[in-house]
Amino acid sequence: MRQTATLITGASGEMGHGLIGRLAEEGIEDLVALDIRPIDQRIGNQCKACVNGDILDERLLERIQSEYEIHTVYHLAALLSTRAEFTPDAAHRVNAGGTLRLLQMAVEQSQWHGRPVKFMFPSSIAAYGLPGREVKQGTGRVRETEWNFPTTMYGCNKLYCEHLGRYYANHYRQLAVDSSSHGIDFRCIRFPGLISAVTLPSGGTTDYAPEMIHAAASGQKYGCFVVPDTRLPFIVMPDAVNALLQLQEAPRENLRQTEYNISSFSMTADEIHQRILEEWPQAEIDFKPDRKRQAIVDSWPAEVDDSAARADWGWAPRYDKEAAFSQYLIPRIKSRYSG
Ligand code: SER
Repeated sequence: MRQTATLITGASGEMGHGLIGRLAEEGIEDLVALDIRPIDQRIGNQCKACVNGDILDERLLERIQSEYEIHTVYHLAALLSTRAEFTPDAAHRVNAGGTLRLLQMAVEQSQWHGRPVKFMFPSSIAAYGLPGREVKQGTGRVRETEWNFPTTMYGCNKLYCEHLGRYYANHYRQLAVDSSSHGIDFRCIRFPGLISAVTLPSGGTTDYAPEMIHAAASGQKYGCFVVPDTRLPFIVMPDAVNALLQLQEAPRENLRQTEYNISSFSMTADEIHQRILEEWPQAEIDFKPDRKRQAIVDSWPAEVDDSAARADWGWAPRYDKEAAFSQYLIPRIKSRYSG
């Protein structure tokens, strides 16, 4: 018999670290971690198995398929937005092609054990594409159905995968005689910029916020690549992980849509800088805007409307702007760099 498993792709990434730690704390013992990068021991110790390999490797997926009975997938593996612009073909292969394979695997698993696999997918504010800074500044909180015209390969991939997820959940094999029972249970969150006290992201365009904070705490100079009044929504990692778990646990009948915005606080780069200076007055941060990365950030909303998530599955962040810094980021980052 196959062993039951909760599969986590991108396990070595930023969100993988946060999520696996939390699932292990919750007593989930059937975690199977998958990543193309070596999976570090701390993560490995919290999992039943670690698989080192590429989500595009069909043999590898077949092996996982044959060894495990998978009930939940957290499909976190992706190339982030800045990196994806340098290698758009590769990004499309991994972000779109990889997701398609995982969805196909999930649908087959659902057929084997007769219950829809829960497929948790982190999408992003990159799925939005506002036409530029002026419109962004004049637009309020953006709803899921508005401004779906991404300008990055990563954003296009995320938006397309949301559609694929909805297809595999609701319309897969729609012309088959027995089309009723073979879908998956696809649930997706459009995350704002993530900030973790423990890990640094790599290759993203919201990275200036975590980079600025980590640089200040570790005594490094930092040149912020956006202009000071650039505003984006952010969330700290514990809230991001809570959101994934909360959505995962929500009763299916309460979910009126497959993709949900969530929001915690919105800040300009300058507000982040000022908050950093309160804590680390010696921080050497200046602004060295990169016109092209700025244009990407200018296409992402300053604020999102998360009322559907609040109504359908009780989303509420634990950390607002003040708590994010004073209760999570500052104490945790100080202890990270104090050794
Ligand atoms: N944080 C991601 C990035 O910057 C967006 O979701 O690419």
